Amino acid sequence: MIERFITPLVTTDVRLPRSGRSLRIMHPADIDPLIDAVADDPEQNLPYWAELWPSGIALADAIALRPQTVAGFRVLEIGCGLGVTAIAALNAGADLTVTDYAPESLLLACANCLANAGREPSTLQMNWRKPPDELFDLAGEGFPVVLAADVLYESRDVQPLLGLLGRLVAPGGLLWLAEPRRPVAARFIEIACAQDWELSESDGEWDGPWPDPNDAGVHVRVHRLRRVPSPGS
Ligand SMILES: C[S@@+](CC[C@H](N)C(=O)[O-])C[C@H]1O[C@@H](n2cnc3c(N)ncnc32)[C@H](O)[C@@H]1O
Repeated sequence: MIERFITPLVTTDVRLPRSGRSLRIMHPADIDPLIDAVADDPEQNLPYWAELWPSGIALADAIALRPQTVAGFRVLEIGCGLGVTAIAALNAGADLTVTDYAPESLLLACANCLANAGREPSTLQMNWRKPPDELFDLAGEGFPVVLAADVLYESRDVQPLLGLLGRLVAPGGLLWLAEPRRPVAARFIEIACAQDWELSESDGEWDGPWPDPNDAGVHVRVHRLRRVPSPGS
């Protein structure tokens, strides 16, 4: 069915390095035709959703090791890509909504969740630079947990994501962020901590092994950023 929209697809076995969990992730075989297809994208976003990223794997592993952090909670993921982190959140018992810019990502994330977790998350297509009202309606007073794996790689996203996450994460809530030591992510964390966030804990660093041999040497840090409640909230 999906191959009517995205083709050809292949499946890669992914092992979460610490928990040892195994996933089978369906993804496009070749990213080049997808790059051609977005040549006219008004946001100039590349099809990064179509790849397996170490950060998504590390965050999935962190969730598998601490499922109680999301179990039974309303959880939002931004930039869900192929759904690797989403699978772990669903397996841990989260009430999950995933979002991404690319509708194809949401389709494949759902298929991968169904195949690996036996159920699908709710989905919302959105551009985090122009978030729709529907997202804020969904957030209500804020999500207790928001997941984000490798979403901070373009400087133009630091301010939009600081503003957005300040509205999406409930006061006292958690932003569980995985990033492969990118300067943009470091800048985001520095500004966030100077405003109304605190680094409550780190889950540490992951150094693989990753499914793609080209990622050997990539180190991923997994952070827990707590949104400090404002006085009186
Ligand atoms: C590097 S990928 C990471 C995917 C996934 N989190 C993982 O770690 O495997 C970045 C993701 O953010 C999404 N994204 C990029 N720009 C976006 C935007 N402006 N609004 C919403 N999603 C966006 C991409 O489509 C992609 O799925």
